[in-house]
Amino acid sequence: MEMEKEHKSSHPRLVLVPLPFQGHINPMLQLGSILHTKGFSITVLHTAFNSPIPSNYPEFGFVSIPDNLSEQLISADDLLPFISLLNLNCGVPFQECLAKMVQKQEVENEPSIACIIYDECMYFCDAVAKYVKLPSIVLRSTSASTYLSRNAILQLKAEGVLTSQGSTSQDLVPGLHPLRFKDLPVSKIGTPEIFLQFITNIYKTRTSSAIIWNTNDVLEQPSLQEIQKQCQVGIFPVGPLHEVAPASSSSLIKEDNSCITWLEKQKQNTVLYVSLGSLASVDKKELGEMAWGLANSKQPFLWVIRPGSVDDQEWKKLLTEGFVEAVGENGCIVKWAPQKEVLAHGAVGGFWTHCGWNSTLESISEGVPMICKPCFGDQRVNARHVSKVWRIGIQLENKCERGEIERAIKRLMVDKEGKEMRHRAKNLKERIQLDIREGGSSYNSLNKLIELIMSF
Ligand code: UDX
Repeated sequence: MEMEKEHKSSHPRLVLVPLPFQGHINPMLQLGSILHTKGFSITVLHTAFNSPIPSNYPEFGFVSIPDNLSEQLISADDLLPFISLLNLNCGVPFQECLAKMVQKQEVENEPSIACIIYDECMYFCDAVAKYVKLPSIVLRSTSASTYLSRNAILQLKAEGVLTSQGSTSQDLVPGLHPLRFKDLPVSKIGTPEIFLQFITNIYKTRTSSAIIWNTNDVLEQPSLQEIQKQCQVGIFPVGPLHEVAPASSSSLIKEDNSCITWLEKQKQNTVLYVSLGSLASVDKKELGEMAWGLANSKQPFLWVIRPGSVDDQEWKKLLTEGFVEAVGENGCIVKWAPQKEVLAHGAVGGFWTHCGWNSTLESISEGVPMICKPCFGDQRVNARHVSKVWRIGIQLENKCERGEIERAIKRLMVDKEGKEMRHRAKNLKERIQLDIREGGSSYNSLNKLIELIMSF
């Protein structure tokens, strides 16, 4: 166990345990920053795999626990078996680490641990917290609607309505408007047992005292109300966490800031920002269709092509086929962008996204309408809400095809329809800003959460 940094303070300490993926590390560290501003000491217990960068958070303590996984390459295709292995491997080292921390706090008169806050996918923490007699709280970093739709999957499977492979039906799922059967976040990867086990594991709150949710009433009040009716413990929707937290980066990949210089040269609301997050990838056919759809639209674009997300050979082939010449100064391509800064830039008028929950929240918070191309899991649920509930985006429903992409870009960036979506997105942004300020529901939830932690 490596103690990377010590932090001495008289405030109670919170131990945070993120799932080691970008889309889950971000909200956990943002939550940590918020709670730190409220006086808590923060210690992050993290795996060696995808370790966060301690120097970005000098005010936190970071402790690495061995996970026996560092050498494994992870893709979206084996996420669920990976999470299951992580839970098997981390329990013992985590327990040893906590025991050492408790011992040290007694000997050296350090701030005592008030509770453990863990990502819903790091469910092994619950048993360990119980064993060391510490309270625990779950952080859910996907949407409330995703929770309800996963619940529905369990029920529909039990009733025999849904097979293990999910469904391609366009019919609406009863009680989950506007989700269709095809939008349900069924994993088509791995065995059905692994998927069902996964949902069951993340759904049990077991002995945890509360649930923190990276969402809010403005976006998801009906779903949150429904969940509170079903839950034995209090739920605290305190999001969007990135809006409440002091600005800092928890990026695992180095951000390329040169794209901001490029954005400076573009006109207001003209640039389409394109990114599919930290896990999704595109095959060679999709890559070509995306590239030529963008080029043919003649709309300026900033495209994040994360290393490993496309086939290197195909990318090189595309470049030799005249893509770069066709685009010229109209396009900027980077490996990883400072996404929140990009979305806040006045030149960005649209976001072509896979609808990961963080990207969705970040886009809404900046009033940027979206082109939704969900890739897997909860992304389909989020995309449906963007296009049909908040009506701030267009969903690409079919296979990636350059003509459809070009038309969608024109609809979002040029047509009246897109202007109306932008208007609604700006309106949502303002309502969210009010919600996180004094008197807003997210603000009040955070205060109640702090009261609860202080009462432990
Ligand atoms: C994963 C799942 O895929 C997603 O469905 C789930 O909702 C959260 O966990 P990911 O696919 O990485 O997340 O997407 P997302 O939730 O959008 O998180 C990506 C994060 O990386 C965002 O906070 C975004 O700001 C950041 N990012 C992305 C960058 O900082 N730079 C980039 O270039 C791209």
